Amino acid sequence: MLVPVILSGGAGTRLWPVSRSAYPKPFMKMGDGESLLYKTLDRALRLAAGSPVLTVTGRDYYFLTRDDYAGHPQADLDRLPFLLEPAGRNTAPAVLLAALHAVEHVAPDATLLVLPADHLIRDLDAFAADAQRAAALAADGWLVTFGIRPTHPETGFGYIRMGEAVAGREGRQVGAFVEKPNRDTAETYVASGQYVWNSGMFCFRADALIAAAEQTCPDVLAAVRVCHTGASGSESPVEFSREAFLAQPDISIDYAIMERAPRVAVVPAQFDWSDIGSWKAISELEGESDAADADGNRVRGSAIVVESSNCYIQSDARMVAAVGVRDLVIVDTGDAVLVADRERAQQVKLVVDRLRASN
Ligand code: GDD
Ligand code: MG
Repeated sequence: MLVPVILSGGAGTRLWPVSRSAYPKPFMKMGDGESLLYKTLDRALRLAAGSPVLTVTGRDYYFLTRDDYAGHPQADLDRLPFLLEPAGRNTAPAVLLAALHAVEHVAPDATLLVLPADHLIRDLDAFAADAQRAAALAADGWLVTFGIRPTHPETGFGYIRMGEAVAGREGRQVGAFVEKPNRDTAETYVASGQYVWNSGMFCFRADALIAAAEQTCPDVLAAVRVCHTGASGSESPVEFSREAFLAQPDISIDYAIMERAPRVAVVPAQFDWSDIGSWKAISELEGESDAADADGNRVRGSAIVVESSNCYIQSDARMVAAVGVRDLVIVDTGDAVLVADRERAQQVKLVVDRLRASN
């Protein structure tokens, strides 16, 4: 039984001022009015075939998330169980809690399809086909990742060296998994042509993941088990004791399990993928209703652009006018305005650091 698990956490501070701790990145609406979270639910429901879709998210986002889900025509909120985190403890505890919950309360042989709530995928048929390939590998006990062909030496991603083909399946063995290499290493990886990016989506049998964690991070697993055992029960929303939750190590599934587990496979993705990591990534999205003009400017909302090039402008209400500027990101949310060099969009998170320090 394929059980999608939607992971929704983290503030996405590089997308300030639209993404904030009270309204983080998964809730951010794309040009078509659908949020990234809603789109993730849609992908999950296409594959769930009647099985429940689990969502692991912060307690504070429960109602906001349900409201967003309720707008989906196929969403039956009774089939969308929630595991609510009292605080963020990163993805290893979040996914392991989902695995323990699935084995005990959904199906002992559940295969999890882990979907971060802040990715954008347009080709849903290609995605569904790759998910089926991954599920077939997972059925044989592999921990499966989805590999994206790299376009630049990004240091914010995990890199996978593709090894031999897995006999009888459409996928490759993982030769090496390196989470977030430094710039020089990332450059060699991209130049070699042998590496793909880890998309951050995974597929594995829940019991296989737990068995792998037993080997690679027994301390994490032990703390997660304590948390799971003390949970409010099987009924949604499942809540956890704050103390037990905070006792779990803050570590990602990549570092805790994927880098170290023996049987890891990769399905090279046939689908398009963006993790919408920064305003630059948003400004480069193609094929939305707001196409770029001849000078490479893209506008969402109301703006007038005069003799400017390669700018991305987004405004919810006010009119923005840009004259004679280049390579800027300008985002106006009514109570805040961001003006940034498009190439330095990663540094927007420094604004949030400053804001936090001053509050
Ligand atoms: N529920 C929950 N709780 N979700 C979480 C938590 C948490 O404590 N922490 C992170 N998430 C969610 C995030 O919202 C995001 O959707 C996903 O899990 C991945 O977390 P990130 O914090 O965005 O990870 P990353 O970007 O540093 O790296 C991961 O993703 C890259 C691709 O986007 C890794 O898997 C990399 O290897 C990968 O390349
Ligand atoms: Mg990320």
